Amino acid sequence: MSTLGRIIKYSKPYWLRILVAIIASATLGAMDGAFAYLVEPLLKKIFATKDLTIFTLLPFGVILLFILRAGGRFLNDYYLRTAGELAVRDVRNDIYKSSIVLDLKYYNTNTTGGMMSRVISDVGGMQNGISNVITNIFRDGISAVSLLGVLFYRNWMLALIAFIVIPISAYSAKIIGKRIKRLANEGQLKMADLSSHLQETFSGIKVIKAFGLEERSLTHFQKVAEEFYELIRKSIKYNSISAPTTEMITSLGIAAVIWAGGSMVLRGIMTSTEFFSFITAMILMYKPLKSLNGGYNNVQSSLGAAIRVFEIIDKQPEIADAPEAGSLKISQGVIEFQNVSFRYNDEYVLQNVSLRAERKQIIALVGPSGGGKTTLVSLIPRFYDVTEGAIIIDGSDIRSVTKQSLVQQIALVDQETTLFNDTLANNIRYGKFDATDEEVITAAKDAFAHEFISQMPDGYNTRIGDRGIRLSGGQRQRICIARALLKNAPILILDEATSALDTESEKMVQMALDNLMVNRTTFVIAHRLSTVLHADQIIVLENGCIVERGSHNDLIKNSGLYSRLHSLQFSERAADGNNNQP
Ligand SMILES: Nc1ncnc2c1ncn2[C@@H]1O[C@H](COP(=O)(O)OP(=O)(O)OP(=O)(O)O)[C@@H](O)[C@H]1O
Ligand SMILES: [Mg+2]
Repeated sequence: MSTLGRIIKYSKPYWLRILVAIIASATLGAMDGAFAYLVEPLLKKIFATKDLTIFTLLPFGVILLFILRAGGRFLNDYYLRTAGELAVRDVRNDIYKSSIVLDLKYYNTNTTGGMMSRVISDVGGMQNGISNVITNIFRDGISAVSLLGVLFYRNWMLALIAFIVIPISAYSAKIIGKRIKRLANEGQLKMADLSSHLQETFSGIKVIKAFGLEERSLTHFQKVAEEFYELIRKSIKYNSISAPTTEMITSLGIAAVIWAGGSMVLRGIMTSTEFFSFITAMILMYKPLKSLNGGYNNVQSSLGAAIRVFEIIDKQPEIADAPEAGSLKISQGVIEFQNVSFRYNDEYVLQNVSLRAERKQIIALVGPSGGGKTTLVSLIPRFYDVTEGAIIIDGSDIRSVTKQSLVQQIALVDQETTLFNDTLANNIRYGKFDATDEEVITAAKDAFAHEFISQMPDGYNTRIGDRGIRLSGGQRQRICIARALLKNAPILILDEATSALDTESEKMVQMALDNLMVNRTTFVIAHRLSTVLHADQIIVLENGCIVERGSHNDLIKNSGLYSRLHSLQFSERAADGNNNQP
């Protein structure tokens, strides 16, 4: 379907509003025609037959006409514009709906700012188009047609002369429209650059301040803003050229009409009142024609935005539920990797990984940075699908069950402690939306978060800023742990934060984690010695391959990679008496 067709399709549900608006605008347009038509008999009556009643009634007639026009205009404006806004609201909801289910892969390759610009600024650009399509086609179109009727009725030859200029004017409108469309497209892309830059600035403000990058950021922003202005300037130029060009071309038509019409009146082929009526219709027609032309430019510039919006709406996630996917039933919580290989792009990041996590076991993943630990655990909730092999949970391939039922069974505590702009209680409730206050408090207690939450001014109702700026690193971690505890899922994925915590906080996070790991099949990317010591199996990953596995004691005896890592990474901390990161 064409982009324009799709835009119109979004307006369909609001046909009743559009119909009211059409009727109002048809009346308006017809009135324009009637007005131009009536000029002739009225002038004739008043001046030729000196009809005084008509003369005294005329001012009231004019007022009445304009009251009707005002009413019609209101109905038309109100219903058309609300129909446009409703259609745009649906587009916005649709683009959000499709964005949110897109794969992580998509989010990894597109900037947040760029995505936001699509939802906000491209949809905004499209809105212009939708309102214009509807307004112009109906209101100005009808009014132009009714006036055209008057013109041809009055004198078809003169009408033809008046419209000799139409092809020229249409051609120039087309050329200008094309330029405007291209510029609008580039403008929207620049706007996306601007929003990316904004988003990065605001979310990375700490780094910017720490490294004194304010000046540099500002210069970059100003450069993009300047480029944006330059595009807009050109677009304004073409927009401003558009109306005078039409006017100039129309003036040729008017001149021709005056010349031809004047001589017809002189030769007695046409009466002077008919001629005035004709000229009135022509002048009245000028406005809808001009706005149809402006509307055309507007539509051109919003089509580009619409194309980008529909591109996202049409995007299908690669990782989706299989047609006959059932729900995942967990009986034991046994997770098995069968010859799993995986690559993000061309290079394999995991190769032939086979392992089996028995019921309620703790599997610790260790190994050098970039070895593939985070990648391995992100395959379990299907953030990505395995390239080869399979992951089986309690006998079901995870690709054969619904994603919803899969993630319901998994609690994730990530290195990035993501908190939302909401109250502390609600941040914990992300684990289980219908949890009672008691459940939230129990989870917070088990996560050793209750104490500091209670000391906050509003306790559990304290709102935290966007990214939990008012909490310490350890406190944020404990909120995330409470969230996972509340979810109470049989499978736990834990990417231990590597950031250094003070001894006190570290201890509490550790105790909270110990509480969390009880009774769950756990995959933990371990940076703490105590976690490794408690693990049932330690898997050592290097370059995407399992190079060693076993218990702590077995691996130390082997004196392989693990024992080297252990002496490097963990031993001094063990000697230190606490398990802090260096
Ligand atoms: N989204 C991605 N797209 C492409 N390549 C990626 C992506 N994420 C990770 N990689 C690559 O995959 C490899 C494994 O990365 P991964 O994050 O799994 O390592 P890790 O063992 O968790 O490391 P660390 O201990 O530093 O967290 C690395 O070479 C990395 O560059
Ligand atoms: Mg990692």
